[in-house]
Amino acid sequence: MDQLKGKKILIAVTGGIAAYKIPELTRLFIKAGCDVQVALTENAVRFVQPLTLETLTHHPVLMDDFILLDEGGIPHIEATAWCDILIVAPATGNVIGKAAAGIADDIVSTLLLAASRKPVLFAPAMNSRMYLNPVVKRNIALLREMGYHFIGPDEGEMACGEEGIGRLSDLTCIVEKVKDIFTVKDLQDLTILISAGPTQEPIDPVRFITNRSSGKMGYAIANAAKRRGGRVILVSGPTRLSVPKEGITLIRVKTALDMEREILEHFPYSDIVIMAAAVADYRTDKPFPQKLKKSDKSFKLELVRNPDILQALGTQKTHQILVGFAAETEKFEKNAIQKIKDKNLDLIVVNDVSQPDAGFEVDTNRIMLIDRFNKIRKFPLQSKEDAADTILDKILKIKRKVAG
Ligand code: PMT
Repeated sequence: MDQLKGKKILIAVTGGIAAYKIPELTRLFIKAGCDVQVALTENAVRFVQPLTLETLTHHPVLMDDFILLDEGGIPHIEATAWCDILIVAPATGNVIGKAAAGIADDIVSTLLLAASRKPVLFAPAMNSRMYLNPVVKRNIALLREMGYHFIGPDEGEMACGEEGIGRLSDLTCIVEKVKDIFTVKDLQDLTILISAGPTQEPIDPVRFITNRSSGKMGYAIANAAKRRGGRVILVSGPTRLSVPKEGITLIRVKTALDMEREILEHFPYSDIVIMAAAVADYRTDKPFPQKLKKSDKSFKLELVRNPDILQALGTQKTHQILVGFAAETEKFEKNAIQKIKDKNLDLIVVNDVSQPDAGFEVDTNRIMLIDRFNKIRKFPLQSKEDAADTILDKILKIKRKVAG
């Protein structure tokens, strides 16, 4: 489910040093399957060459509004009718002020006035003293109130050498924000509890038992659920992943017992629960208090069973849609159908973890969905982001079916 495929993106560039990053932003949108057109103010041209952008986009760059296009079209009217979204990046304090006041005296401010029926995203970038000026803050607040979208700016070192808030947002975050804007908010008002990553079961102060889960699958579901408007609680075992999307409640845990406690606490008021974590089935009963010394003899470690969190959820389930994962290497359907029955699940996501491009650690997955009505559907190799949307689509179908 690629929200960006086939979308027409109009990027309006104003005269800030961050304009030099726009060819890369353009490339990211094109890579995501978008058709991109760019407009440059006179001052933007001082920082970025039109030829670079024309070569990347295969469209002429809009710079002069006082010309007629082929067949008599007017640039700002044609371009804003064509686009699905207008992105102003970098947006200077000047263009933000013009937009707030309704002034249209150059190509970008004229596009802004003409794009009144299209979503508009501003990515401000300026020196922090300018950004924190109450006039700029007021203009941004006014535009936000009118429904304009904003992203950033970020904190860090700026072109002038000063540190502070004012850097153009990370380019991948701008792309992600545009995805958010295009996404239908079909999980609005729902609370989605997700587990991700491995658990770590301590042996002694420096050693533990764990598995190969990176957390990528669970984090992808959490990000997709957030994008689709859900209230998301992510209970995560130790991972190296960056913090998920803003607005997700992230609870970090280490052991299966920690994970069980957090999941059970948030379960009663959740609407959808997805257990993507690879929870260790065993732990040492009592971890050694001191670091174990090596000995020549063999060493036996006694393990006890961890609680099966999913099983407990199945017995406590009231209104929740309960989704389990199955990391299998053989007898996929048989084992998964058994798990649905044993754990009272609504859906199970089966991944063949014997494949090098699916399951643990990798960015892709090959999933099979089996619902509680024994309906089975296999999906081809897809990114974990797309797999996340596939799973959420299926959950919503089940939820609607259950609700009658
Ligand atoms: O994190 P990645 O690197 O992206 O990899 C993704 C993944 C392979 C970890 C993920 O797609 C996946 O399959 N997660 C479940 C792995 C697993 O533990 O499978 P299982 O068949 O052992 O467990 C079945 C279900 O019971 C799972 O939903 C699991 O979360 C749950 N479980 C398991 C043991 C336990 N003690 N308590 C549980 O709740």
